[in-house]
Amino acid sequence: MAREEAKVSDVEQKEMAAHRIEQLRQLLEEHAKRYYEEDNPTVTDDVWDGWMRELIQLESEYPEFLSPASPSQRVGGLPSSGFAKVQHRIPMLSLANAYSHEEMRDFHRRVSEVVGDGVRYVCELKIDGLAISLRYENGQLVQGATRGDGETGEDITSNIRTIRNVPLVLAQPLTIEVRGEAYMPKSAFLRLNEAREQHGEALFANPRNAAAGSLRQLNPEVAARRGLGILVYQVAYVEGRPLESHSQALDLAKELGLPAHGVRANGLTLEGVLEFIEQWQEERHGLPYATDGMVVKVDSLAMQQALGFTAKSPRWAIAYKYAAEVAETTLEEIVLNIGRTGVVTPTAVFQPVSLAGTTVSRASLHNEDIVRERDIRVGDRIVVQKAGDIIPEVVRSLPEYRTGNEQVFAMPEGCPECGQRLHRMPEESAWRCINPNCPAVLRESVIHFASRDAMDIEGLGESWVAALIQSGRVHSIPDIYRLSKESLLQLERMGEKSADNLLAAIERSKSAGLERLLFGIGIRHVGEKAARVLAQSFGTMERLQSASYEDLVALKDVGPKMAESILDYLHDEAMQRMVGQLTELGVAMEAKQRIDPPEDGPFLGKTVVLTGQLESFDRTRAAEIVTMLGGKVTGSVSTKTDIVIAGENAGQKLEKAQELVRSGKKSDLQILDEAAFCAWIEPYLK
Ligand code: IVH
Repeated sequence: MAREEAKVSDVEQKEMAAHRIEQLRQLLEEHAKRYYEEDNPTVTDDVWDGWMRELIQLESEYPEFLSPASPSQRVGGLPSSGFAKVQHRIPMLSLANAYSHEEMRDFHRRVSEVVGDGVRYVCELKIDGLAISLRYENGQLVQGATRGDGETGEDITSNIRTIRNVPLVLAQPLTIEVRGEAYMPKSAFLRLNEAREQHGEALFANPRNAAAGSLRQLNPEVAARRGLGILVYQVAYVEGRPLESHSQALDLAKELGLPAHGVRANGLTLEGVLEFIEQWQEERHGLPYATDGMVVKVDSLAMQQALGFTAKSPRWAIAYKYAAEVAETTLEEIVLNIGRTGVVTPTAVFQPVSLAGTTVSRASLHNEDIVRERDIRVGDRIVVQKAGDIIPEVVRSLPEYRTGNEQVFAMPEGCPECGQRLHRMPEESAWRCINPNCPAVLRESVIHFASRDAMDIEGLGESWVAALIQSGRVHSIPDIYRLSKESLLQLERMGEKSADNLLAAIERSKSAGLERLLFGIGIRHVGEKAARVLAQSFGTMERLQSASYEDLVALKDVGPKMAESILDYLHDEAMQRMVGQLTELGVAMEAKQRIDPPEDGPFLGKTVVLTGQLESFDRTRAAEIVTMLGGKVTGSVSTKTDIVIAGENAGQKLEKAQELVRSGKKSDLQILDEAAFCAWIEPYLK
């Protein structure tokens, strides 16, 4: 009897397994598509990895259900249309994952069984980006490709060429194929999302998706502006250079000028590996890029060959995944922030918790719908994490802890700053304060106007702007140009020197040029790029003001929505008044001198360092000119520097450059004074 019962339950279990396998396959397929093809994941990597592990486990318990179509049998997603397909000559495989020291010991045991105890490992931090392949023929970059499904990827050479640390020509004329990770640095990711938020565009969930989205841009110009980087982690193939170990291969890559892996340790035993993993668990958060694990590889290539591959991944490597950092805390308050477009954003304020290297106590909840969907109530225990190692977010509430005293959030009827009724536009999830005189909207507009990418008024940050508005000194943007030293000195904590500096920065900003002004005055949908295009196409504010809808949409980067927004803005009476006042106050309404990127020229492809003071330009403008002429401006002088522009009082950098020339370490380094610099750029200024 008992035996029969057991049999029935076996059958039941098998049925349950079949059902779950099917369910997991569907989930994985669906989410892989969102992840790889639409760059729009809705579950975290941990959840996805968990499903994959469960599926692999069930399939190994019930091999009768194994199918070649199962997502466990392939790597990554499918190439999307729009790029030519690339057949990888050597497949781009994925790595098996480990989540504990235990699993690392199992890996070591499996390796040692094949190659013996003498095995040594290389550890490299696992960057959270996307895998790419670079092919060089006789030292020339001929192809850059994505991984795709591992067999077939996409030809993204034109985008790859825009990545600044990808050498287009190697230091030696070798034919070589390397693999690496393309990533978006944390700072670039934050900047990109900030800009997207300002323009009402969807935000990227993490730097990985932002990098993938950027490399999928059909327009390489867009990719170029995204500030991507790569790190090379493998030499897949090289002609005429016999290699014995992986570390030797990466050293060769470095020698050729490729950005080989930054955080790496060679010659480790298993214990050394485990130590290195622990050492970087916290330290990695201080790196400029997001990381999610440590890749551990057998160093000897002969041993790698002996170990071979499974269908999906090499047996000689494994990725130790750091647990995604999540923390529980208590939600104390939901406060409302008002942006310069009047959008009211709920922000969670919680008891401070330590998360991925910093202490956090606030996270944007984006909009009312998200608060409702995640059922987040004031007083709740909540789970927080950092998306892509950077942006704190509230993942969910923990209703099981509720006492009944928690409060459901509701958007107030009136603006928390000025009290006027909030509006929700059809098809938008945002509520807005549409009062043009709302002090919060004014504050944010002035902060934006003064910001580095707009009018660049150094010293006019959030707290001074708030003080100037609160004290009644600034009621509008033009009021900035009406400030006097006397009135500034009456502000608390404003000293003589700060007042002088601030007034000088305000004065300088008058000649920032039309492009910065158009970005600074905050026309909806007009970002930095569009502002530049408008300024350069029309030259003056006056000409832009008389532009028609047709004139605007005729421009390459201006669509109908932006054109309408520009016309609305320019014909709005209040805005016309503001522009009139700014003109009277001496703010320049003309575009800066324009430079077309030349096909050739003295700065093209050159690494340039600016040092000392220039008379005719400030350093930012000089750097802008060099960049527009195809040069790359860096901060320090080394053998990689091609040109040093030295103004008055140039110090150590100039000395170092002279030393490099004198010693012959870099005898072709060119040192220009201001007059020579002006002569070089003169032909390109119109
Ligand atoms: S080695 C055949 N090394 O992680 C070995 N991969 O799931 C191929 N990754 O597709 C991978 N850092 O995109 C390797 N130092 C590193 C890595 C690394 C990041 C990515 C890579 C790969 C995925 C593995």
